[in-house]
Amino acid sequence: MPLVTLKEILAGTREGHYAVGGFNFNGYEDAQGMINGAAEKRSPIILMASLSACRYIGLKQTVGMIRGMAESVDIPVCLHLDHATDYDYIRAAVREGFTSVMIDASALDYETNIRDSRAIVDFAKQYHCSVEAELGKVGGKEDHVVVDDMSATFTDPEDVPRYVEETGIDALAIAFGSVHGFYKREPKLDFPRLEKIVSLTPCPLVLHGGTGIPVEDFKRCVRMGMSKINVGTEFKKAFTDTLRKMCAVLPESQVDTKKYMQPVKDVCAEIVKGKIDIFGSADRA
Ligand code: G3H
Ligand code: ZN
Repeated sequence: MPLVTLKEILAGTREGHYAVGGFNFNGYEDAQGMINGAAEKRSPIILMASLSACRYIGLKQTVGMIRGMAESVDIPVCLHLDHATDYDYIRAAVREGFTSVMIDASALDYETNIRDSRAIVDFAKQYHCSVEAELGKVGGKEDHVVVDDMSATFTDPEDVPRYVEETGIDALAIAFGSVHGFYKREPKLDFPRLEKIVSLTPCPLVLHGGTGIPVEDFKRCVRMGMSKINVGTEFKKAFTDTLRKMCAVLPESQVDTKKYMQPVKDVCAEIVKGKIDIFGSADRA
């Protein structure tokens, strides 16, 4: 299928009591593995590239590669630029064919966050591209965005309606206790805050920092109305662990690189299938 927008892929998630996984990829193997897993489950999927992943792969190459993968399967696939702080790069990605971008102006004050996010929405609209933005600050490290424990701030529910209304965004990333990267301690999600935010806006909500969240917490978030759940670090860990293992297992005489990389694809597919079962998005394609 042609790539779909974030707005299209998230429509019906809250009412349908399921969430769509947003998974960070850094190259061909993890991306193709993720799509294979989603296709097997007949689930929609959001493929997310960070700024550094895009710069590593190349912008044209990223779009061309994921578009080709999406057109080879009959499930909805959305290509999303994740945590973008470089506005010129966002515009270039939109022009190139990304079907969703996240403007991360969460480090800025409320009014500036609204103004900058609105400008990106106005631009992206002309290209049939969706926009996700963040209110509050998710802690931890994601790509070049680093938020220490002291600076992490939960989303204030009272700020949400005006923010959604004035920015015109298609999805809202909220901060309510999840953290980017590995958790230093057991994650403690603020469910009453999530409940309040859900009650205040129909805008699809996004959970960032999915790695390490217990299964029951994921399920509770989905039951409460979470629409998109981002997972990144878990794939990086599985990718590197698998590659390390293959280098240890295969003899030096083995120079067929596919033998090393196929298991990487497979492990990414397995993780995606597991997440789809938890998020309830199987057979929603
Ligand atoms: O935007 C990306 C996600 O929030 C990934 O978070 O690496 O902690 O799973 P994670
Ligand atoms: Zn994130």
